[in-house]
Amino acid sequence: MKQSKAVAAGTARLSYADSTVELPVYSGTAGPHVIDIRKLYAETDVFTYDPGFTSTASCESSITFIDGDKGVCLYRGYPVDQLAAQSNFIEVCYLLLYGKLPNQQEMTTFDRSITLHTMVHEQLAAFFRGFRRDAHPMAVMCGVVGALSAFYHDSTDVNDPRQRDIASHRLIAKLPTIAAMAYKYSIGQPFIYPLNSQGYTENFMRMAFAVPAEEYKVNPILAKALDTIFILHADHEQNASTSTVRLAGSSGANPFACIAAGIACLWGPAHGGANEAALKMLEEIGTPDRIPEFIARAKDKDDPFRLMGFGHRVYKNYDPRAKVMQKQARIVLDEVGAHNDPLFQVAMELEKIALKDEYFVEKKLYPNVDFYSGITLRALGFPTSMFTALFALARTVGWIAQWKEMIEDPHQKIGRPRQIYTGEPMRDYVPLAKR
Ligand code: CMC
Repeated sequence: MKQSKAVAAGTARLSYADSTVELPVYSGTAGPHVIDIRKLYAETDVFTYDPGFTSTASCESSITFIDGDKGVCLYRGYPVDQLAAQSNFIEVCYLLLYGKLPNQQEMTTFDRSITLHTMVHEQLAAFFRGFRRDAHPMAVMCGVVGALSAFYHDSTDVNDPRQRDIASHRLIAKLPTIAAMAYKYSIGQPFIYPLNSQGYTENFMRMAFAVPAEEYKVNPILAKALDTIFILHADHEQNASTSTVRLAGSSGANPFACIAAGIACLWGPAHGGANEAALKMLEEIGTPDRIPEFIARAKDKDDPFRLMGFGHRVYKNYDPRAKVMQKQARIVLDEVGAHNDPLFQVAMELEKIALKDEYFVEKKLYPNVDFYSGITLRALGFPTSMFTALFALARTVGWIAQWKEMIEDPHQKIGRPRQIYTGEPMRDYVPLAKR
C-alpha cells in the first residue's frame, strides 16, 4: 500500500461563531499547500462550499502536475513537451502507469502485453450491431466499453493487484480497436482486426482506414503525429472525466465500468467535446474577415457563445500542449498537401487577434490543446464525430493510472460530497383530494 508523501507544513486557524479550529496544512512536492478539512464538520458542524472544486484537492496524486501560471504540465515529473518530442505513446503509458521510464526489457515486455490484448471478444462485434449506423461514436464507446465488464470477468476484482494490472493493459490495448470499430460501423465498412506486427498507433490507423480489398500502408509521418497527439492527451490530473473515473471507482465499481463513466463525462463540449466544437466554430467563421464578429459575440455577456478551444480552468498562461499541437497541425497539413488550409489560416489569425484583445488578456484566456487538434485530426482523415473518441482512446491510460492509484491509496474512501440545502423545509404530505 502506498504511503502519503505529503508533509506537514503548518496549521491554519478557522474562526466561526464562538469557536476556532486548528486545521493541519500539508505541502506536496510542488503546487499550493492544502488545508486538511477532513475533521472540520465533526468539530464545527459546518461544511465547505466549493461547486466546481475550484479550491479543492480531492486526492493525493503523484501522476501529473500542472502549473497553470507557468504553463507547465509534467507526467511523473517529465515535461509533456519533452515527452512529445522524444518519447512515444506506449512508453508514456508505462510511465503513467508505473511511475518511471521503462528499461529496454520492461519496455519490450509491456509493449508485447499491450499488443497481445488488442483483440476484442468476437461477440463484442455483435454488440455493435445493436446501434443505429448514425450513432455518435462516443455513444457507442460509452456502451461498448461499459460492456467489457461483461466479457472480462477475470479482471474485475478490484482488490486483486494482478487483476487490476490485467484490466489496465486490456483497456489501453482494446480502446483503439473499439474506437476504430465504432468508426467502421458508422461508415458501413467491415471491421479490421488488429495486426501484431504493427505499433500501437500504426495499428489503430490501419484498423480505422484500411479496407480488406486493398493493401494499406501507414504513413509514418502521420502516425508519428497521431502518436504525439495521444501523448498530449494521455493525462491531465483531476479534470472532470478523471474525477468521474475516481468517483465511480471509489465505490468499488470495476475498472471497465469506471472508464465508461469517464468517457461519458469527456463527451461534453466544455471538456473533450471541445475539439469537435472548435472545428465547427472555425468552419462557421469560415474566413478571417468574419473573426471580429465572433470575437464580439464571445465577449457579449448576453450571448452564450464562447470561443471554443480557448480558456482553461487551470492554465492561466499558454497551455503547453497547445504549442506542441500547433506544430503537429503544421506537420500534418504539410504532409497531406493542405498547408494553405483555410481553417488553419482562420485559426492562426483568430489566435493572433484574441491574444491582443483586452477581454482575453484580462481573463487570461489562451488557446488550449483543443484549438488546433480538430484541424489536425481532420487532416489525418478523421471525421469530426471521431475527435472526442480519439481523445478518449488517449486519455484511457491516464484514467486507469489514476484509478489504480486511488485503489492503492490507504486513505481512499467512497466519494460523498455534501450540499447546502435550499429546498423546502419539512412539511406534511397532503392527500391528492385535498390539494
Ligand atoms: N470564450 C469567451 N469567454 C470565456 C471563455 C471562452 N472560451 N472561457 C472563459 N471565458 C470567460 C467567462 O465568460 C468568464 O467571464 P466572467 O468572469 O466575466 O463571467 C471567465 O472567462 C471565466 O470563465 P469560467 O467559465 O468561469 O472559467 P472555467 O474555469 O469555469 O472554465 C473552460 C474553463 C475551459 C470550461 C472555459 O474556458 C470554456 O468554456 N472554454 C471553451 C471550451 C473549451 O475549449 N474546453 C476545452 C478545455 S481544455 C481540454 C479539456 O479539458 O477537455
